[in-house]
Amino acid sequence: MQYEDIRAALDAIGQTQLLRFYEELSPSEQQSLLAQISATDFSCLSRFSEKDISRPAPHVSPIRTLTRGEIRKEEAQLKERGLALLREGRAAAVLLAGGMGTRLGMSGPKGTCDIGMSRPVYIFERLIDNLLINVRAAGRPVRLFIMTSEANDKATRDFFEAHAYFGYDADYIRFFVQDSAPAVDDDGKVLLETKSRIASSPNGNGGWFSSMHRAGLTDLLLAENVEYLNVFNVDNVLQNICDPLFLGAVDLRGADSGAKVVQKSSPDEKTGVMCLKDGRASVIEYYEMTEDMRHEKDEEGNYVYSFGVIGNYLFRLSSCLKALDARLPLHFAHKAVPHVDLSGRPVKADQPDGWKFEYFIFDILASLKDCLPFEIERDKEFAPVKNKEGNDSVATAQALCLKNGIEL
Ligand code: UD1
Repeated sequence: MQYEDIRAALDAIGQTQLLRFYEELSPSEQQSLLAQISATDFSCLSRFSEKDISRPAPHVSPIRTLTRGEIRKEEAQLKERGLALLREGRAAAVLLAGGMGTRLGMSGPKGTCDIGMSRPVYIFERLIDNLLINVRAAGRPVRLFIMTSEANDKATRDFFEAHAYFGYDADYIRFFVQDSAPAVDDDGKVLLETKSRIASSPNGNGGWFSSMHRAGLTDLLLAENVEYLNVFNVDNVLQNICDPLFLGAVDLRGADSGAKVVQKSSPDEKTGVMCLKDGRASVIEYYEMTEDMRHEKDEEGNYVYSFGVIGNYLFRLSSCLKALDARLPLHFAHKAVPHVDLSGRPVKADQPDGWKFEYFIFDILASLKDCLPFEIERDKEFAPVKNKEGNDSVATAQALCLKNGIEL
């Protein structure tokens, strides 16, 4: 698109301030700003006023979980079905690696974090090793899609290439960049990070499917008859990817989706909790839970909302395609957004001065028929690296790896 068209398009949505410094820019900066503007999805801006709308609270009730005891009883059958699906090439894996890793204080992709003790062991490497266990059991490669962000795409690809894809067959790995959403000020005006760049950030992990679809990858999956997508967080170094038991359970129950869950270590553990919202499978984030909900117990004295999601979901491709046009809830985060002010001076506030827009992965569940919560053994499959120290840190993840006989 040319300057005039872009100006007209921005005018129509009240955002011409993005071209405020255009005349001062070099020709290449002008081109890159125009390219960024035409590639940006501004549709979330029309929903900015939703942040002030208070909706009636949904009716929240417990959801039935397939517990470890139940899984153990049908283990052989589930495993056989799951392995058959893998052998037939009906499952693929999707790594969510578009996040910024800010809590860990890293500047590069989170997956490049070294958790080794006597040698370097990277998070990406751990994930590949875990996936390879199931690939070997099936005797057939599984496609792995890696979602990156504009900011970490090159670094992620280069890292995998430099490490020879950690032994995974590179022909089966595809990277795609997730969509970005612009950041706005309190009046809903998009901010400029510099005079020639819009302030933007990844649009949340709920952007995975539309981004993957836009990248043309769903056509590839359909052509290859892939039925299930195992979508997982980057930060869990014990992530069991394409687990035959999980695949088998979701498939044999004819469910549209599944979510791996753990028994929470305490009611205050910071994981989203599986529940039903107005009768539909859903996840409620820890910070959205009321005190009453956190501590509610059943007649036997067990916590009612005790299963936390670990960021490992199984989705049926055909159901995700049907839900593609569903309007996902938009989450608004009030944050400090580095930007340039109207006179072009950089502003770096220590208080929130802007808004970011995000979609969450589990919000798609409301558009699906159902979701099977599948309990896993915490110490075997959940070792997240989220914080520099304390809970869910490199140190706790190392300890859990050692406990599982993984040499670091
Ligand atoms: C997430 C879950 C939470 C769950 C916890 C388990 C969401 C919204 N929350 O919380 O319910 O209990 O994991 O550990 O999923 N990502 C992208 N693009 C983005 C944002 C994030 O790819 O724009 C990826 C991250 O790289 C990561 C995953 O999504 O792999 C989870 O994101 P993160 O922000 O770390 O979520 P948590 O707050 O840890």
